[in-house]
Amino acid sequence: MKRDPVGQYHFDPETYLAMVLSEVPAYFALQEATAEATTGVVAAQILELGVGTGETAKLVLAVHPMARLTGVDESPEMLDCARKRLPSADLRVGRLEDPLPEGTFDLVISALAVHHLDGDGKADLFTRVAERLRPEGVLCWPTWSSPTTLATR
Ligand SMILES: C[S@@+](CC[C@H](N)C(=O)[O-])C[C@H]1O[C@@H](n2cnc3c(N)ncnc32)[C@H](O)[C@@H]1O
Repeated sequence: MKRDPVGQYHFDPETYLAMVLSEVPAYFALQEATAEATTGVVAAQILELGVGTGETAKLVLAVHPMARLTGVDESPEMLDCARKRLPSADLRVGRLEDPLPEGTFDLVISALAVHHLDGDGKADLFTRVAERLRPEGVLCWPTWSSPTTLATR
């Protein structure tokens, strides 16, 4: 993962797993817990925000094998990797700050991605997510905060 001069992160699918495991040692447990948390949801349409290499989607779709997954990520390289693992998913290059894909979703998932937005960005995203969720729909967003961030709050 690299950061450009304006503070954007660029993820590399080749190095992503090693990087994320160094930052989030319980990464695989978090992914399994995310999928398990969706078990009670009747989900035909799933939206994922920040698909990355498709790890989260792979496990969530194992719980909801009949569901259609639409996913968004700003990194074409990460999505190329995800497409190999999720050939039936509709994966789109886009930013979380942009309009969300059209449609109504039963379940919106976003693992380790929303923390890239600032407070206003998160509030705006959650407003737009609420507009896309069906009544009783579920947003599942396991997130991350560094010890430094917590210590400086
Ligand atoms: C830490 S990875 C998480 C990927 C996956 N959900 C997982 O748990 O492995 C964060 C992903 O979010 C994407 N991302 C970060 N900021 C974004 C933004 N503002 N809009 C769209 N995608 C973004 C990155 O390209 C990256 O693939």
